[in-house]
Amino acid sequence: MAQKKIVVAYGTRYGSTRMIAGEVAEFLKQKGCITELVDLRSRGVRSRLEDFDMAVVGSSIAIFSWIAKVKAFLRRCKKTGIPTAIFISSGMAVDDPEKAKTKFLDKIVARIGIRPIAAEAFAPVLDFRPGSDVPEKIKNRIKGTIKAVAKDRFQEDGLMDLRDKGQFENFLGKLAASI
Ligand SMILES: Cc1cc2nc3c(=O)[nH]c(=O)nc-3n(C[C@H](O)[C@H](O)[C@H](O)COP(=O)(O)O)c2cc1C
Repeated sequence: MAQKKIVVAYGTRYGSTRMIAGEVAEFLKQKGCITELVDLRSRGVRSRLEDFDMAVVGSSIAIFSWIAKVKAFLRRCKKTGIPTAIFISSGMAVDDPEKAKTKFLDKIVARIGIRPIAAEAFAPVLDFRPGSDVPEKIKNRIKGTIKAVAKDRFQEDGLMDLRDKGQFENFLGKLAASI
């Protein structure tokens, strides 16, 4: 059987969505797929979408908003009919992934009218290591909130993976079942 070609396209502000998308791409590669990881803010893939068998699309959530280019890409996915899985990286998902999904993901999915093969709101992977994608002023601004929700997982200068492991594995399982 021909190898499946999958595009894992994302939009990030502080790096979490990129890291999660990178893990998804690596997982699908291990499963024997040809994967292409694309940062939608810097590179387009819309005109080549027909080359792929599946799309996995991820957006950062900040100030209640997606990244516009990710929404535009999803509209394109809907138009072409490519099987599409969607995730968001959201602070709200640390405490309540279902609420974050309802509030930030399901609404956009309904508005676009796409029917995803999998859709999840993941808590962020926050990189507070010196020199990371999270600017110092943002670290200082969100430190208190993160400390409160991350509790014993909080690290002043560390990489904090706040995702629910079971939820992420379940998402990967759905992708594996669709290839
Ligand atoms: C300025 C700012 C605003 C944020 N606003 C929200 C929000 O409205 N809802 C939410 O669930 N998380 C919010 N977060 C948390 C982000 O969703 C989280 O940091 C996530 O990792 C962002 O993804 P990214 O790192 O790929 O940009 C916010 C974070 C920052 C720094």
